[in-house]
Amino acid sequence: MLTLRHKEDSSGFNVSPSHTHLGFSETLGPVTAEEARILEKLDFSRLPRHIAVIMDGNGRWAQKRHLPRVAGHRAGTQSARMAIETCARLHIEALTLYAFSVENWRRPKTEIEFLMQLLREYLRKEMPLLQRNNIRMRFLGRPDELPEAVQRDTREAVEATSNNTGMVLCIALNYGGRAEIVDAMNAILAERNGHSSSPVTEEQLARHLYTGNLPDPDLLIRTSGEMRVSNFLLWQIAYAEIFVTETLWPDFNRARLLESLLDYQKRERRYGAIAAPPASVAR
Ligand code: FPP
Repeated sequence: MLTLRHKEDSSGFNVSPSHTHLGFSETLGPVTAEEARILEKLDFSRLPRHIAVIMDGNGRWAQKRHLPRVAGHRAGTQSARMAIETCARLHIEALTLYAFSVENWRRPKTEIEFLMQLLREYLRKEMPLLQRNNIRMRFLGRPDELPEAVQRDTREAVEATSNNTGMVLCIALNYGGRAEIVDAMNAILAERNGHSSSPVTEEQLARHLYTGNLPDPDLLIRTSGEMRVSNFLLWQIAYAEIFVTETLWPDFNRARLLESLLDYQKRERRYGAIAAPPASVAR
């Protein structure tokens, strides 16, 4: 839980012109005045358990700067780093990042190869950050269709972080929501081996998804303004709150992430029920 030690301005944070510190500096480290204003309004007891992110807009970010698309992907890794570290420090249980979809094989070969290399480089470079933050890694998707070297590196990253006990970081890689449901059904059929004809239940199907025992995402963030779900976690986002921002993924900084959490907390989650009556009526 965050406790604020310094109360030196109206925001409740010890704000210096550029940076400020939370009471628990190990929690978020130095925060900007803008972040401090958002943090002041956040209720740390009502954070989402699982956040899923469609990191979109890398190509457009690069295009705006007359850079090759791949420069956008490289810049996007900085936002991924920020999101991973911030969520881990806020004790979010799970963060899922959509890195490569089953549809992304339709992109130019050079871009695909760059993305695969970038991921491998990322896993190597960011391992200390993952370990320092007690993060467990998981990959969602069909591994068999990935290049051998990527399969090996992802297996090793899962193995190297398997004893960690903090946030679960899922990277959706060669991921498709429909493929995931098909894979879950086939896994159930294989388990039954023709011996059972009892109906498949929702609980059983959910258990066989790539996300297995993780809670469903409470919050789905999509950057770059597109209003689509893009075959992402189709089953799991049934009741997720959706936050779409115009910000392109490489520009999605910590203030924007905290803002999405604040927006989430303003939503009334009803799961198909009716709104809770005011206390006076409920009596
Ligand atoms: C979508 O932007 C982004 C991707 C398909 C790849 C996302 C990958 C990264 C951010 C880097 C690697 C990730 C990790 C977890 C290390 P786009 O290319 O579709 O952008 P556009 O819609 O503007 O063209």
